[in-house]
Amino acid sequence: MGKVKDSERPVGIFDSGLGGLTVYKELRGMLPGENLVYFGDTARVPYGTKSAEAVIAFSKEITSFLLEKKIKLLIVACNTASSLALEAVRKISPVPVMGVILPGVEAALRTAPPGGRILVTGTSATVNSRAYSRALAGSGVKVTEKACPLFVPLVEEGWCSKPVSAAVAREYLAPFRGKADALILGCTHYPLLKKVIAAVMGPRTRIVDSALAAAQAARTELADRSLLNPGRRGRSEFIVSDAPERFAALALRLLGIKTGRVAVKRF
Ligand code: DGL
Repeated sequence: MGKVKDSERPVGIFDSGLGGLTVYKELRGMLPGENLVYFGDTARVPYGTKSAEAVIAFSKEITSFLLEKKIKLLIVACNTASSLALEAVRKISPVPVMGVILPGVEAALRTAPPGGRILVTGTSATVNSRAYSRALAGSGVKVTEKACPLFVPLVEEGWCSKPVSAAVAREYLAPFRGKADALILGCTHYPLLKKVIAAVMGPRTRIVDSALAAAQAARTELADRSLLNPGRRGRSEFIVSDAPERFAALALRLLGIKTGRVAVKRF
């Protein structure tokens, strides 16, 4: 067999669990020719309540594993890992590494007027890291960050449009209604609650989906490096650290993704 062309090597995507499938789904739709390998750390999810040390250690382990698969680009699809571990991952990766924070921030800045107000939502770890505030510093916008920890379990339960989700969204976000020009969905799971979040925030607030922004940024990165794989027949491989059947069932139920067989890699 001949040598695999660089463009044919897969794009690696990882998340703490299944939430990063929001990034996978955008990317798959945009770039049907790409070979994609997705790793979900289902044995250790959630990351959003863990220490920086733990998230960095997990992220480095997963990166080393995906590098063995000869990936050409790594997307850290988890906002918590992007907030806490991006630099550590870059240090050990010979291939380019992208997080989801910068794409989300750039998309929000295209939306919000100069001097406008941006509300960042995310896990407690993401909000405590202030990664979004740092990325937005100097841009002239006013930033508020709000942790919404109950959103992740609601999505994991598949309760995206139940009344309880709207009630939780009101509890967290009603004080900001009408007061933000843009709201960043700074967590992999939150795009699945976009409708309830938008309803609480009101029509003045643009909702910025960092999963979509990250996928668009990945496409640009691949194009700039002449690494795009053309065509429509890209392969998808899914690997998790535990409970592959549950992952496959939720991927289908929440995102309509047919994973096929999901492999298991335990650390
Ligand atoms: N993937 C995480 C994030 O985007 C949410 C789930 C978790 O806490 O691990 O922040």
